[in-house]
Amino acid sequence: MTELTQAATGSAAQADGKGGHPLWSSRLAFILAASGSAVGLGNIWKFPYITGENGGGAFVLVYLLCIALIGIPIMVAEVMIGRRGGASPINSMRKLASRDNLSRRWIWIGGMGMVASFLILSFYSVIGGWALSYVGNSAGGLFVGSSSDEIGALFGNLLSDPYTLLLWHSVFMVLVIMIVARGVSSGMEKAINILMPVLFVLLLVMVGYAMSTDSFGAGFEFLFSPDFSKLTTEGVLTALGHAFFTLSLGMGVMMAYGSYLPKNVSIVKTAVTVSVVDTAVALLAGLAIFPLVFANGMEAGAGPGLIFQTLPIAFGQMSGGVVFGTLFFVLLVVAAVTSAISLLEPVVEWFEEQKGISRLTGAFIGGGSIWALGILTILSLNVWSDFAPLGMFERFEGKTIFDLLDYVTANLMMPLGGLFIALFVGWFMSKPSAENELSFGSVFAFNCFMFILRYITPAAVLVVFVYNLL
Ligand code: PFF
Repeated sequence: MTELTQAATGSAAQADGKGGHPLWSSRLAFILAASGSAVGLGNIWKFPYITGENGGGAFVLVYLLCIALIGIPIMVAEVMIGRRGGASPINSMRKLASRDNLSRRWIWIGGMGMVASFLILSFYSVIGGWALSYVGNSAGGLFVGSSSDEIGALFGNLLSDPYTLLLWHSVFMVLVIMIVARGVSSGMEKAINILMPVLFVLLLVMVGYAMSTDSFGAGFEFLFSPDFSKLTTEGVLTALGHAFFTLSLGMGVMMAYGSYLPKNVSIVKTAVTVSVVDTAVALLAGLAIFPLVFANGMEAGAGPGLIFQTLPIAFGQMSGGVVFGTLFFVLLVVAAVTSAISLLEPVVEWFEEQKGISRLTGAFIGGGSIWALGILTILSLNVWSDFAPLGMFERFEGKTIFDLLDYVTANLMMPLGGLFIALFVGWFMSKPSAENELSFGSVFAFNCFMFILRYITPAAVLVVFVYNLL
């Protein structure tokens, strides 16, 4: 059943009455979907380890400031562009630019975002596959009684085996394609309505467990008592970059989701809610993880292996570790799936707009190409681990294809996308349209918002961007 017929037959999502573009069934549905996109590997895998590497509390404080001052305004801008355009990122930008007689080149923001989603999902799915395989490892009791060397070897063996990686990457991608192919209402909304509550419950169970350990206080203090002597310039920039990644900004994902947002829903309130949910999940993940790490006498600054190497050691040593370890990795898979759906959606929405391509075909062509691209990431973890395609440039020395994909998307494409989105809404789009779409209810609040988008956001993003380039 296509989206149009779904809308016509009145299933969960509604049509907007103008051409039947499907819509989320309610504000809550959008909040869950956008939170599902935002809450992902970034919150449960990346946030804890970069917080660990950057010394804790002071880093968390800077991260919170970046979310409030830069993340939320860009999210508002992106959702607004999506809702006004009512189409895929490329076509929304095309419509808005032509309405205000602006250059057609603005569609490149949408285009770049779609390319970035494509690239990110290709490696995000491989990491989602690691999480899937760790559900099995934990449930099978592989962590129990294992030494840290054995647990390290388990991770090492997974990364060095391309066939196992390909298997899990494929399972992950098939899951994501199946959900997206079914459409906004019967696919994404239904899946998200089940997955997000499951995620919250699992997270609270994990935090509850952490609270029962003697080290909960130490974990809490690590996250919330700032020690500015531990904060470096690099840490500040990492916090800003992560604010983009964790809120899924600068890539058109929030535009695509915004294009399904009913007109009567307040964009500002909704964006604030999504950002608060995302931040709360990252902090709760920290509160679930650090007490376990400290309770077992381990280091917070273990880097990317924190949840695949350090945490399993903790699960192997604690009572009930099989159950809690399995729940933890199920939580990670759920978070990764709801984000991956949002990465595939803009590509599929665009395919759907091309005449004669159904959503199902679009999901398979788009998802299938992303799956194939994922093979490059898999190979760079083993067979091609010494292959650095841009190794002739000093800054890319030793960087594998996987490293390059991660670097180019997170450090270049996302901030650039965010910068142009802020510039478009702040300086180019007609002000009355923005005011009308956002309905702040107070001229002062609207002016503050525009001031941030015009000056603060571009300046902050430029600093990160230039720093990353130099
Ligand atoms: N926000 C997701 C996370 O924190 O894992 C990752 C992500 C999803 C980034 C969607 C970008 C995106 F468009």
